[in-house]
Amino acid sequence: MKLLVTGGAGYVGSVCARVLLEAGHDITIVDNLSTGNADAVPDGARFVEGNVRDVAATVLDPGDVDGVVHFAAQSLVGESVENPQKYWHGNVVETLALLDAMRDAGTPRLVFSSTAATYGEPESVPILESSPARPTNPYGATKLAIDTAISGYCAAYGLAATSLRYFNVAGAHGGAGENRVIETHLIPIVLQAALGHRAGVKIFGTDYPTDDGTAVRDYIHVYDLAQAHALALQASTPGRHDIFNLGSGTGFSVRQVIDTCMTVTGAEIPVEETGRRAGDPAVLIASSDKAIAELGWKPDRTDLSVIVSDAWDFTRSLGDRAHSARA
Ligand code: UFG
Repeated sequence: MKLLVTGGAGYVGSVCARVLLEAGHDITIVDNLSTGNADAVPDGARFVEGNVRDVAATVLDPGDVDGVVHFAAQSLVGESVENPQKYWHGNVVETLALLDAMRDAGTPRLVFSSTAATYGEPESVPILESSPARPTNPYGATKLAIDTAISGYCAAYGLAATSLRYFNVAGAHGGAGENRVIETHLIPIVLQAALGHRAGVKIFGTDYPTDDGTAVRDYIHVYDLAQAHALALQASTPGRHDIFNLGSGTGFSVRQVIDTCMTVTGAEIPVEETGRRAGDPAVLIASSDKAIAELGWKPDRTDLSVIVSDAWDFTRSLGDRAHSARA
């Protein structure tokens, strides 16, 4: 397929672009490089630098592009609480412009990066797609608003769309991984500490109602996540908007993640216990049964040691290109 990949210079987008290229698709990437890295754009993809709302109409030639895989977004929970304006404009306004450009050009299919943050604090785990969506932060609220808009565009204009609700994405693939200027995610932070780029790691909250008091998350390997995008592109149906959770189905606490990172890296990492981070739910674990049944998705890198080990190999390979090395 001829595909437009927005956010293809970012972490998840650049890994997925590689996997889609490997599968034989023709890829054009649009990215404004606000959080992505130009060196993450894979060989073999065309690259257009710019905001989605500014360039979507020009890169979507009428009748020419088979689909859009839309990763470009603001995606930090904590930042969204402090600066919701950046999230409503950066996520919702940009995506509405993309949907309109797709409609004008007759682009038939969309795969959208939604998130577990649309559910908020779950009543029970594992979380099903039918669970109530009550986001606890503006990031989740903007992604839910976009999901709602997509449903309407599918029903009214015949768009075929799939929203993939990611849980905690980690790991690396094909020379692409996490290398952000501002890093807030647990696994890369712990690995940067293991490399000596940080003094240590803070645990945000030790009073959660979990076995060891720290928050529990479902970590999914970015390669497994990318495979789901390839499947979603094949499975889409005109007029339908399908939503799938994507996780590994197992929860690991912050302490368990830090312990696994210490085992994989062999480093002793200083840990400081601090208070909870605003907007963080206690436990997020996915049921991915629907994606397994309906997309034929088979996650095979669900072992946390494999996820951390792949992330560690990538982090070490960055050398001077690591933003954390310059911090
Ligand atoms: N954490 C720490 N110390 C840190 C960083 C994180 O204790 O230095 C904790 C967080 O408080 C949280 C857990 O580690 O309990 C995971 O935090 P991340 O920042 O790695 O990831 P989040 O769970 O906040 O969010 C991620 C994505 C979201 C997505 C969510 C869905 O960034 O986009 O997973 O599960 F919505």
